[in-house]
Amino acid sequence: MRTLALPLTLLPLLVLPASAAEDSRQPVAMPAMMQEHMRASMRDHLLALGEIQAALAAGQYDAAAEIAERRLGMTSLDAHGARHVAGFMPEGMQATGTAIHHAASRFAVTAQEAAVTGDLARALGGLAEVTQQCVACHAAYRLLPSP
Ligand code: HEC
Repeated sequence: MRTLALPLTLLPLLVLPASAAEDSRQPVAMPAMMQEHMRASMRDHLLALGEIQAALAAGQYDAAAEIAERRLGMTSLDAHGARHVAGFMPEGMQATGTAIHHAASRFAVTAQEAAVTGDLARALGGLAEVTQQCVACHAAYRLLPSP
């Protein structure tokens, strides 16, 4: 009974949709056009993550590395205009943005190494570090709907 008590008290936390809880994310204001741009690049980030996972599953480590570097890594910064959008971000958000690009570039190296060593577990660990940055930023910030 005692072992059941704790899980049962925590249950409502698990089943309540996130929106029912207080939204503690910091709102970030930027012009509508920038928001559109940022959301589009976010959707491409998600697409890239899926493509990376599929490439890893197929043992195509070089392809996984290339997608990560080009779409999420340091190389992607100019491509998706991150430096321009970053001007509207609070400092902590910028730092998470930088962290994800670094994590993606690190993953790209790990994936390239996995092409030689076959160490999928290590590559997946590197990818998890990328995803953690997506989660960290989403937990802390939201876009303020523009008028
Ligand atoms: C630097 C902060 C930051 C990072 C890092 C980040 N995001 Fe986002 N993302 C946001 C914000 C802010 C929004 C808008 C949330 C809101 O207010 O609706 C968003 C929205 C999104 C959306 C919804 C897009 C839409 O059309 O509305 C997707 C999908 C998304 N992010 C995927 C990702 C993925 C995948 C990653 C990691 C590879 C990632 N994001 C990393 C800040 C970030």
